[in-house]
Amino acid sequence: MSKTSRIFLQPHTAVVHQENMIRSRRGFLKGIALGAAAVIAAPVLSRASAYAAEAGGNKVLILYFSHSGNTRRLAGQIHGRVGGDMVELKTVVPYPQDYDAVVDMAQKEQQSNARPQIATEIPNWDEYHTVFIGFPNWWGTMPMPFFTFLEKHNMGDKNVIPFCTHEGSRLGRSESDLRKLCPQAHMLKGFEVRGSRVSSAQKDVDAWLDGLGFPARN
Ligand SMILES: Cc1cc2nc3c(=O)[nH]c(=O)nc-3n(C[C@H](O)[C@H](O)[C@H](O)COP(=O)(O)O)c2cc1C
Repeated sequence: MSKTSRIFLQPHTAVVHQENMIRSRRGFLKGIALGAAAVIAAPVLSRASAYAAEAGGNKVLILYFSHSGNTRRLAGQIHGRVGGDMVELKTVVPYPQDYDAVVDMAQKEQQSNARPQIATEIPNWDEYHTVFIGFPNWWGTMPMPFFTFLEKHNMGDKNVIPFCTHEGSRLGRSESDLRKLCPQAHMLKGFEVRGSRVSSAQKDVDAWLDGLGFPARN
């Protein structure tokens, strides 16, 4: 498919990005209509309070991947509120900075069901009871490095809380992919926000975390 006609094909929702939105990241972001932010009603498989887990002596991990910084900023907002450890998932071979190049590479990785090698190690993985998984929506789901990571790190019955930045596709099919990768985990309600709106998302982040039972920090 040529770059000029490229669309992000989603199985459930066809998200068609206009030619001028695809050519460059700036054009892409410019073309995005400002929509209502952020919290969507993802299926909650367990009503267990993530905070109750931490209060019981268990630790929170905020594990995120970010290519251009939006998800990193969102992870920082969550960390400011929840505390715990924040770790960036990095690949052995970094993704290209060029927007078109990374879009092509990510699409190829997804089509070939690739497992890019990851450089991040979490030696104390077993200590965490609650794991936030943060990512940019790439072609409808998590970037493939999360598939590598989650196949290597058994989530067991930890609480898993997805959060995602995107430019229209919201969480896409990431939650169903997460359920397949972590079948015994307690999936709690996720959060999504457009990448271009992260800087004004703190209120929505707080409301979401309130709903999960994380107390406000002073
Ligand atoms: C490789 C790639 C694929 C993307 N696929 C989608 C998509 O399918 N749907 C969507 O809404 N946004 C898509 N986007 C936009 C990103 O999800 C969005 O810009 C996100 O906020 C980037 O987060 P980051 O700054 O943490 O990397 C894609 C971006 C890239 C680079």
